[in-house]
Amino acid sequence: MLILLIALHRSKFPPGLVTGRIMDRFASSPRLMIVSDLDHTMVDHHDPGNLSILRFNALWEAKYRQDSLLVFSTGRSPTLYKQLRREKPMLTPDITIMSVGTEITYGNDMVQDEGWIEFLNQKWDKQIVSEETSKFSELTMQSETEQRQHKASFHVKKENAQEVMKTLSERLAKRGLDIKIIYSGGMDLDILPKGAGKGQALAYLHKKLKEKGILPKNTLACGDSGNDAELFTIPDVHGVMVKNAQEELLQWHAENAKNNPKIIHANERCAAGIIEAIGHFKLGPNISSRDVTDLSDAKLDHFDPAYEVVKFFLFFERWRRAEVENHEVYLSNLKSVCSPSGVFVHPSGVQQSLHVCIDKLKDCCGDKKEEQYRVWVDQVFPSQIDSDTWLVKFQKWEQTGAEQQGCLTTVIVSSKGVKPTEGLTWLHVHQTWMEGTTKNSRNDWFF
Ligand code: GLC
Ligand code: MG
Repeated sequence: MLILLIALHRSKFPPGLVTGRIMDRFASSPRLMIVSDLDHTMVDHHDPGNLSILRFNALWEAKYRQDSLLVFSTGRSPTLYKQLRREKPMLTPDITIMSVGTEITYGNDMVQDEGWIEFLNQKWDKQIVSEETSKFSELTMQSETEQRQHKASFHVKKENAQEVMKTLSERLAKRGLDIKIIYSGGMDLDILPKGAGKGQALAYLHKKLKEKGILPKNTLACGDSGNDAELFTIPDVHGVMVKNAQEELLQWHAENAKNNPKIIHANERCAAGIIEAIGHFKLGPNISSRDVTDLSDAKLDHFDPAYEVVKFFLFFERWRRAEVENHEVYLSNLKSVCSPSGVFVHPSGVQQSLHVCIDKLKDCCGDKKEEQYRVWVDQVFPSQIDSDTWLVKFQKWEQTGAEQQGCLTTVIVSSKGVKPTEGLTWLHVHQTWMEGTTKNSRNDWFF
């Protein structure tokens, strides 16, 4: 069993297969495709506890990850996107669209869609864009990282934006380019090939998925600013403008989509607005485990390994934050769902009985009370390995303050001899450090 586990734990697919792998995950249409902007939509920069994104994460991993598609669509370049991932508790999307719909990548290895790049080369010449933009004193160039093959980005004051956009697009058209100018966040001006943009990138993905016979049953687009407007124009897409949406997006909506019942302006900020939209459009479950106060009451009528994993690590966070009452009851419940012969392989390599590890949890009860401590799981994928056993692979992350640590985790659970309401029995847990986890933070890693 252990050898099989190590082999599965380590297995990696060649990067070339990644695009295929994402699509191959689906024998039939994904239930839901969420296409979400990041800054001020999925990520709330005014929520220091990151609660709304963590609520979304728990919902997605427990209820959607296996049969749905998560797509992030951001204005950020790959450099700034990766930076955001290190700062915030973000899930790993199946598909990442960056640089305002000019770069599409697949999977954890972020393999580029070469077809999209080729398509965007039509009637595009960055040299001409540079020549023409340099004639405007109102435009200041954004940082080098944000200048991309198919995106030139500037800052411009609100009061000058409309005039500059009009004149610039006339001049670029005269020089034979087919371009699009987008204004976002009341300060950013992006120049892209006409066929690019977040909306066009989504339409391209829809076409690709349709050709493979796996067009998602529903798509929900989520955004807050100007560059997100196009997402809401793609046929059959539900849309949510989060509560904190920017003026330019609300104005676009008032002028172009006011009577479209498929687009809502949420009452909630950021990721909480996304959850609200899932409920509003009845796209599937919309209760996050994070909204359930007493997790021991949250029982199911069927076996659900992903849900159990989400629930366990949420309990673990609450335990260390001193948010759990009835310690003894909780610990004895936990013990009762762990096999007496169950083993935990700690990322340090030390092996211990699961029961001993549960006893040791007393040592960390409430130890993170005063800290910004959060736990989340990412890419929870269960696979059934025989009639009553599942192998669940995922990444488990912890963040204390600004520091993140993660472990690749494999769990084996069994339904032998138990009822669904009792929960699955944990037989084996095995963890290895994710790259980038620093040594000094490894001492207080319990699970
Ligand atoms: C992100 C990008 C920036 C772009 C803006 C609006 O902030 O980093 O280059 O202008 O999104 O699309
Ligand atoms: Mg945004």
